Amino acid sequence: MSPREERMAAVTGSTRGIGFGVAKGLVEDGWTVLVGSRSQERVDEAVGRLEGAGPGRVRGRVLDVRRRESCRAFVTEAVRWGGRLDLLVNNAGVGRFRPIQEMAPEDWELQIRTNLDGVFHSSQAAIPHLMENENGGWIVNVGSIASRTAIAGGAAYNASKFGLLGLTEAMMFDLRQHGIRVTIVMPGSVETEFHDGEPPGGSWKLQAEDVARTIRDLLAYPHRAHPSRIELRPTRPPGK
Ligand SMILES: NC(=O)c1ccc[n+]([C@@H]2O[C@H](COP(=O)([O-])OP(=O)(O)OC[C@H]3O[C@@H](n4cnc5c(N)ncnc54)[C@H](OP(=O)(O)O)[C@@H]3O)[C@@H](O)[C@H]2O)c1
Repeated sequence: MSPREERMAAVTGSTRGIGFGVAKGLVEDGWTVLVGSRSQERVDEAVGRLEGAGPGRVRGRVLDVRRRESCRAFVTEAVRWGGRLDLLVNNAGVGRFRPIQEMAPEDWELQIRTNLDGVFHSSQAAIPHLMENENGGWIVNVGSIASRTAIAGGAAYNASKFGLLGLTEAMMFDLRQHGIRVTIVMPGSVETEFHDGEPPGGSWKLQAEDVARTIRDLLAYPHRAHPSRIELRPTRPPGK
């Protein structure tokens, strides 16, 4: 296998939902993929489910993106294993939807620390390795339609995801002259366990594999081309 075919990806928050779908798509495309989330049990389970999806290879490591050292160890593990880093997908994210007047400070902190600080920590860990990459590396941040449109109850979530859009675009300008592309993918509603307590949305919602498809297609662009911001919406959301 040529080095180009052994591309190394680290995907945060990849034991279920969108991150799992992205990891699966990458493994199907022959990537070597490191998956991670906060629970060893969920990491082991995800790796077990992904192992048969090859030709790519998969490994897992516990990761808490709120902790800088954890992000550093995650990226270090990817580089040690793959010998390089081609792609970081900053996907780990949480949502706690409450009116501002009822929102617990802990819920605010959880969302800002996971959805925004986590991207900063993971990206800073990855950038030196991406800069060493002769093909130019790529950072894909999973934003949301909520990165541009606020909703009631979304004070912390919107703040984190609007912030992520600004962070992504600033990173893009900082890094592109180093050959590193930075992209934000902003999905609408996706059928995952993200919306705690909400009944399953039905067939109108996006699926994790749709977001994965977007990222897989993105990665096929020639290096000179840099799609920097992508919105992915359900075609027929109810009542809109
Ligand atoms: N679902 C949607 O409708 C939707 C729409 C637009 C954007 N998004 C965004 O897409 C991303 C993924 O959402 P999802 O719907 O796939 O959610 P999900 O099903 O709840 O999955 C979230 C993943 O992130 C991990 N995670 C949470 N906190 C973490 C932390 N501190 N460190 C490392 N991993 C962590 C979770 O595993 P552990 O619990 O084991 O840590 C899990 O693997 C998020 O950034 C979300 O904001 C979702």
